[in-house]
Amino acid sequence: MELHAIAADTSRHRTDCAIVGVYEKGLLSTAAADLDKQLGKQLTRLVKQGDVSGKLGETLLLPEAKGSFARVLLVGMGSKDKFGRKQYRKALHAALNTVKKTGSSNATSYLSQETVAATNAYYVGRTTAEVVAQISYRVPDLKTSGKPAPPALKKLNIAILGTQERTQAEKGLHHGTGITSGMALTRDLGNLPANICTPTYLASTAQELARTHRSSIKVRVLDQTEIRKLKMGSFLSVTAGSAQPPRLIVLEYKGGKTKAAPIALVGKGITFDTGGISIKPAAAMDEMKYDMCGAATVLGVFKAAASLKLPVNLVGVIATCENMPSGTATKPGDIVKSMSGQTIEVLNTDAEGRLVLCDALTYVRRHTPKVVIDIATLTGACVVALGNQYSGLFSNDAELSAALTNAGKRAEDGAWPMPVDEEYADQLKSNFADMANVGGREAGAITAACFLAKFVHGMKWAHLDIAGTAWVSGANKGGTGRPVPLLMDYLINSK
Ligand code: BES
Ligand code: MN
Ligand code: ZN
Repeated sequence: MELHAIAADTSRHRTDCAIVGVYEKGLLSTAAADLDKQLGKQLTRLVKQGDVSGKLGETLLLPEAKGSFARVLLVGMGSKDKFGRKQYRKALHAALNTVKKTGSSNATSYLSQETVAATNAYYVGRTTAEVVAQISYRVPDLKTSGKPAPPALKKLNIAILGTQERTQAEKGLHHGTGITSGMALTRDLGNLPANICTPTYLASTAQELARTHRSSIKVRVLDQTEIRKLKMGSFLSVTAGSAQPPRLIVLEYKGGKTKAAPIALVGKGITFDTGGISIKPAAAMDEMKYDMCGAATVLGVFKAAASLKLPVNLVGVIATCENMPSGTATKPGDIVKSMSGQTIEVLNTDAEGRLVLCDALTYVRRHTPKVVIDIATLTGACVVALGNQYSGLFSNDAELSAALTNAGKRAEDGAWPMPVDEEYADQLKSNFADMANVGGREAGAITAACFLAKFVHGMKWAHLDIAGTAWVSGANKGGTGRPVPLLMDYLINSK
């Protein structure tokens, strides 16, 4: 959909549908008040009649409105004092859901002319693009019945007062469009079933990105033989039971100065996690197809960064395979040797994410990154701790941790700082190897992070546990595209 920030006076502008807000208690927004005059107090009458309450997200469509608009859509904005970005998001979402059911091919929203608390025109633009993407996203469905016709709506204008603000809003719309294109890729990959989205499929997706962005993205895909040559015994122990071959995918994006050290993104790419010999219960096991969302986030960020031509250098490392039980699978108690040389006793084959990530983290040293951020659907314990609101954020560097926390706040894609103190690592002690891969029931998300910390000495590192945020369960189950917005915000603001 085409998106623009424009100066639009309600008395002169023409559009198929004008979206105007009404606050709680029938308080008209500025645009609604202007319009009310042109429509002979029709809006005031509707409020009096009780047809418009101003409740957040409530809509009323006035077809064949008089004046210069073919239609007027009234949207509730809730309490005027509380109108902030979340409320803006919700009101616009409700409005566009209604508009797309009409024949309007273009619409102009005046919600953006109101004061949106604690934000600026740039983020109003970005939020708008995100709402539009949310409305337009279709899961890659394999249903054989007819697909719904695409909506008529092709263009959305947002009315913004002030020339500078308009420029900022345009920039926000532009960035938002790039970010949501990356999120759509991340979501698609998470939603695709594991018989389609295999390690090989992730590798071809990366190669396709490199073809589309020939001048800025390079990709190398390593197969099992090459992974063995690198001595990634930990990674290989996870793929041991699977008929699908593993892949190590290495991406480079060059948008910054030639010599500038890259920011490294390392993704967990388990295309299906059965748990292995420590097999998971059957209930909701289908959802373990999203255990590659860390990898999908890396690909989404590369897509977004390249499409926006961000002036940064990136390196991406994706370790991808399946975690399956079989006669050749790794057994509880097996001891494996990681690329770092450290040995690991695999007490639970379901704690496989850390086993693939540790070798990817060791590998990424070759690129001498200025910071390393790994992204993984790592633990159920993180979902217990933080639910679906915040990703877990673990780091050995206070500055990096603060930068990511702030990026998450700005992007409305939050991450909450968690401890990675040495004391917790005691839980990983093994009688037989340098460490065990699990640390017991307590503080499961933290001991998983402590395990990773043993492989990043000397690097500025952060780990995002996205088990709770990458996916929503229930009737609308599917990938969310998080934490692409957080990471993109971090990259946009990185110096
Ligand atoms: N992929 C799972 C974590 C997960 C759980 C992601 C729920 C999304 C939703 C991970 O590989 C796993 O199985 N972790 C175990 C670790 C345990 C064996 C120490 C877990 O969380 O139960
Ligand atoms: Mn697992
Ligand atoms: Zn897993």
